[in-house]
Amino acid sequence: MCGIAAYIGKKKCRKYVLEGLQRLEYRGYDSAGFVCIDSQHKHLSFSKAKGRLSVLKDQLNGSPHDGFIGMGHTRWATHGVANEVNAHPHFDCKKSIAVIHNGIIERYDEIRKKLKAAGHEFYSDTDTETIAHLFESLLAEHHDLKQAIKALVSQLEGAYSLVFLMEDYPEQLIVVRHRSPVVVGIGEGEMFVASDPLVFSDITQKVLFLPDDSFALVKEDSISLYDFSNNPLKIESREVDARYIHTGKSGFEHYMLKEIYEQKLAIDKTIRFYNSLNGEGLEDSFWDQLGLTLGQVKNLKTINLVCAGTSWHAARIAQFFFETIAKIQTKVYLASEFRYMPFFPDENSVYIMVSQSGETADTLEALRLVKSKSNIPTIALTNTPSSTMVRESDGFLLMQAGPEIAVASTKAFSCQLASLYYLACKLAVEKGLMSEEQMRISQEDLLVATEILETTIETYKDEIIKHLAPRYSSFDRFIFLGRHISYPFALESALKLKEVSYIFAQCYPSGELKHGPIALIDNKTPVILFSVLDDVIYDKVVANAQEVKARLGHLVVFAFDGQEELINLADYAFIIPKVKPLLVPLAMIGLMQFFVYQIAKELGLPIDKPRNLAKSVTVE
Ligand code: G6P
Repeated sequence: MCGIAAYIGKKKCRKYVLEGLQRLEYRGYDSAGFVCIDSQHKHLSFSKAKGRLSVLKDQLNGSPHDGFIGMGHTRWATHGVANEVNAHPHFDCKKSIAVIHNGIIERYDEIRKKLKAAGHEFYSDTDTETIAHLFESLLAEHHDLKQAIKALVSQLEGAYSLVFLMEDYPEQLIVVRHRSPVVVGIGEGEMFVASDPLVFSDITQKVLFLPDDSFALVKEDSISLYDFSNNPLKIESREVDARYIHTGKSGFEHYMLKEIYEQKLAIDKTIRFYNSLNGEGLEDSFWDQLGLTLGQVKNLKTINLVCAGTSWHAARIAQFFFETIAKIQTKVYLASEFRYMPFFPDENSVYIMVSQSGETADTLEALRLVKSKSNIPTIALTNTPSSTMVRESDGFLLMQAGPEIAVASTKAFSCQLASLYYLACKLAVEKGLMSEEQMRISQEDLLVATEILETTIETYKDEIIKHLAPRYSSFDRFIFLGRHISYPFALESALKLKEVSYIFAQCYPSGELKHGPIALIDNKTPVILFSVLDDVIYDKVVANAQEVKARLGHLVVFAFDGQEELINLADYAFIIPKVKPLLVPLAMIGLMQFFVYQIAKELGLPIDKPRNLAKSVTVE
């Protein structure tokens, strides 16, 4: 969500901080700020700007403000509109304490009122400014930095990662973590602080992820780490995964396009990785990583999937995998809803948190809720090995998609599908529903589908760029329809269009058309219909297409080879080679993403960083 980048060392910090913030742009933001202890005047010097990072950079261009310790922030507004005043850093009354913050402080208003009554002057509408003033008053009360931090965290509710830069402590950054991730990069005589190791991973791969409820005093050559009772903690640094080293766009115009084309490789790597855990002839460590015993696997009666956004769509599709292949009843929950519903701890069940980032606040809180109320095994299916969900769940399944930078998820979604398909097959093998040989064939089916994912883009590329994107980018609204396994896929497709093109898109299960949405059919609202490869359901899909055409609707179909009836009804048909019926979404995915991408490109939109969106939603 918000981005944090800070530096302390022997070099001038501004370059590193701004470059770091640039790499965090994918998280989405609306304003940015930079602050350092000016190397000449030894006081805090800052600059803030509304809008993209380039505005802040232009503002700083030519200015002498730089120092050997500094930090920057990209803000995604939660409290107070996006403007310069609300941008971070925020300060105490004397402007000698600067703070940047990722997260949300709950009930900050009560603290703010008390501080105001005590004479503190506030300038912004943010929760963050309260932290600076509260810290100012606690430092005055305790005359001791660590005591003041202890008192501060005892008063703050919510989720936060904070970095303080203080004139009185010019040789250290103060980093605090409560329910919001933050990482220190350990260099040679220099340290970095960031919300994502991508900020510095080309300079140092040695990192310390702050444990939850801890704070660190970070100097250029040392780190002291404490829990919230001020007990010293051991520094457990580790090497950041090589996959997380910043590689840029590799010649692609946008990260989204790069990531669309990376899907085949990402799935291949992911499946190879899972197979490597099966270790030929060795003890099977696949289930160990998931934190499950073979007994638990064989007796599994219910799978619960909890997630948000695109990950929820992947889980809705995976429900068909688990129920069809492994014959295990599967329930799919939106994390933001799950948390406030009654909790029924089913016996012989498992909770799988599906999350690209492993940090989404609602999903994380859902995980914590399950853990606090039951002994049901919890598993994180994520793309981020260092994530909080991996640390807090009983087991994990790690996709090998590599960093996904574009806000709109593409390769993480397809890797989630491949991972959950693989898991369904593994479960079927353990339950005696599938032989090892059939499992091997299933993996081949999966790879065939990913091959098609890529080749279909090539087949339709020119047509999309030259004709289809210019034509369809002129419509104001779309209806998306799908049925059975194609319905959650249609949901994801509509979301993708909304995210990157800002075009309104409504999605329905096509069987529901006649129960209301059919009133919307006209020739100004293209209907995008996704087919299936199940004969019985296909007939129903054709009937739904006829309903659209009978009302003179404009119909675009994603159909499969040989589905002539459907193809003939369409105003435009993408025709895709046949795959296994459960793999229909994977086969259609590349084409759908490319189509949507080109529409957004046609409209000249900031595809990788759509307005208002954040990649990693670490606030509730
Ligand atoms: C944000 C992102 C989406 C993502 C969702 C869940 O909304 O913009 O692309 O699907 O969060 O994120 P997660 O990391 O938990 O999969």
